[in-house]
Amino acid sequence: MTNGIEHTVLQLAVLVGSLRAQSFSRKIAKALAARAPDSMRCRFIEIGNLPLYNEDLDGDDPPAAWSAFRRAMRECDAALFVTPEYNRSIPGCLKNALDVGSRPPGKSVFKGLPAGVVSVSPSKIGAFGSNQALRQTFVFLDMPVMQQPEAYIGNVAELLDDKGAVTNADTAAFLEDFMASLETWIRTVHPGGSSFDAFMKQREKIAEDYVNGDASSLKAIVTRAGPATFFSPRGDHLEGAEAVAGRYERDAASFHKGGNTDLEVLQASSSGDLAFWSGLQHAKARIGKNGETTEMTLRVTEVFRLEDGAFKLVHRHADPVH
Ligand SMILES: Cc1cc2nc3c(=O)[nH]c(=O)nc-3n(C[C@H](O)[C@H](O)[C@H](O)COP(=O)(O)O)c2cc1C
Repeated sequence: MTNGIEHTVLQLAVLVGSLRAQSFSRKIAKALAARAPDSMRCRFIEIGNLPLYNEDLDGDDPPAAWSAFRRAMRECDAALFVTPEYNRSIPGCLKNALDVGSRPPGKSVFKGLPAGVVSVSPSKIGAFGSNQALRQTFVFLDMPVMQQPEAYIGNVAELLDDKGAVTNADTAAFLEDFMASLETWIRTVHPGGSSFDAFMKQREKIAEDYVNGDASSLKAIVTRAGPATFFSPRGDHLEGAEAVAGRYERDAASFHKGGNTDLEVLQASSSGDLAFWSGLQHAKARIGKNGETTEMTLRVTEVFRLEDGAFKLVHRHADPVH
């Protein structure tokens, strides 16, 4: 695939499990963000204004703060949690944020999101309990979490000056190493960079299946709900998820094995629930009764919507280049 979106800057959500102004955890979070590699952008997402989760409020018109939080989380490729320990577990504000982001069912912003954990305490054992409690919740949220290096920042008051700068050289080096490891690990989980980059790699493989007469992998990424449109190379167009899905399936049946295709992506981007690519699709396909090889180039725009945490094709416009 020819595309300009590899090695994108990773958007890292930073969630701090303390609300107090002089929080040690926030100071450590800032120290971590300051040591992030250039290819990672840290975005502090505030959780203190989230109303306590109440399923009764989570209908068509949920609290604005919940929607803003969910939107912000969806714009990130991974999350870093920096938290103190309250009574050997995670503070309520952080658990509330996890609960808010995990709902409604099937729409969790956390599903599949790579995570890192740093626990912080003025006491010796570095908030081990909260670090582990958070990991326990990640199991149910289906979040992959970096295992090593672990980060239990104990005796934190002795590691910072009045302004929150890290005075201990070993700690400073450890924080830098932690961020570098986190970046490497996130890119292992999402090899293309952002989840849409990874999806686009999959998209090209799906296009290849299609020009070989196999529509099954395309079927898996075509929306089954809500609005859908297809402007076909023949000049006609269809509307509606069912009609569009049926058409893709029928069209694929006209291709024989032995084709190949390449997506020349000129623009691609994702933001929140939506993503698109636009460019050229070059194909050598065997079409018709005799399966003669035909070369074609299409001008293509495709739009995807996140449904249950997965990108689904909601619009395709393909015109032949004459
Ligand atoms: C309700 C509450 C419970 C706490 N429980 C623990 C605990 O279990 N383990 C611990 O190491 N510190 C505990 N502490 C002390 C915190 O580690 C300390 O207040 C720390 O500074 C809080 O983090 P922050 O500086 O980021 O706000 C607790 C503090 C509060 C307010």
